[in-house]
Amino acid sequence: MITSGDSIQAKNGEKKSMEKVQVDLDQNIFMVYPRQSVLVTSRYGDDVNIITVAWTTILSCKPPMHGIVLSPQRFSHELISKSKKFIINVPDRSIITQVVQCGRLSGRVSKKFDEINLTPIPPVALGEYGPPRIAECPVHVECEVKQAIDFGDQTLFAGEVVACSANANLIKNGLYQPGLFEIPYHLGGHQFVFNSLKIHSF
Ligand SMILES: Cc1cc2nc3c(=O)[nH]c(=O)nc-3n(C[C@H](O)[C@H](O)[C@H](O)COP(=O)(O)O)c2cc1C
Repeated sequence: MITSGDSIQAKNGEKKSMEKVQVDLDQNIFMVYPRQSVLVTSRYGDDVNIITVAWTTILSCKPPMHGIVLSPQRFSHELISKSKKFIINVPDRSIITQVVQCGRLSGRVSKKFDEINLTPIPPVALGEYGPPRIAECPVHVECEVKQAIDFGDQTLFAGEVVACSANANLIKNGLYQPGLFEIPYHLGGHQFVFNSLKIHSF
């Protein structure tokens, strides 16, 4: 075993320092950033909302399931708890301002669809009273909540995927082509990075 103060030799001959320092536990969240940020829509009765979410995960392939993690303080938490439905809308760089706004405004005091210039369109599978998709987002994943599990100060909503849709130019022979548009990744605070569109094969 080599010790943490050592260097390792990279393939190109460059020496890469392996020196490690311990970091405060309160930094744990940002140790796994940047994180893709999506716009999650929800609806209960006449209340329709959008929230920016960075804490998402794929939970299962069969059945297909996605998870989103929300604080109980969010209005979206209330709407999704009651309706048991949500849609993950993947934004592109052109609506980064709206991504930030949806992460600052609360649906309790503002009708985000009207105020920040995003267009609601009906869901494919979640029904007439389901949450809308966001027309400006190129990709949508519609989910029905199967379980809501509290962990500490957050809730994991585990949703089974009931429909996927995307802009036609992103689908080739029925397969979704990721990597064709710039997606915001949250770095923390007010900062974001975007994926480079250069594709590397290894
Ligand atoms: C980039 C970004 C990512 C965020 N990710 C989350 C998240 O994963 N979970 C969460 O509960 N809040 C997250 N937030 C905060 C909510 O989006 C924010 O509190 C929002 O105003 C809540 O809206 P609502 O009360 O209308 O649901 C994030 C905010 C930003 C800007």
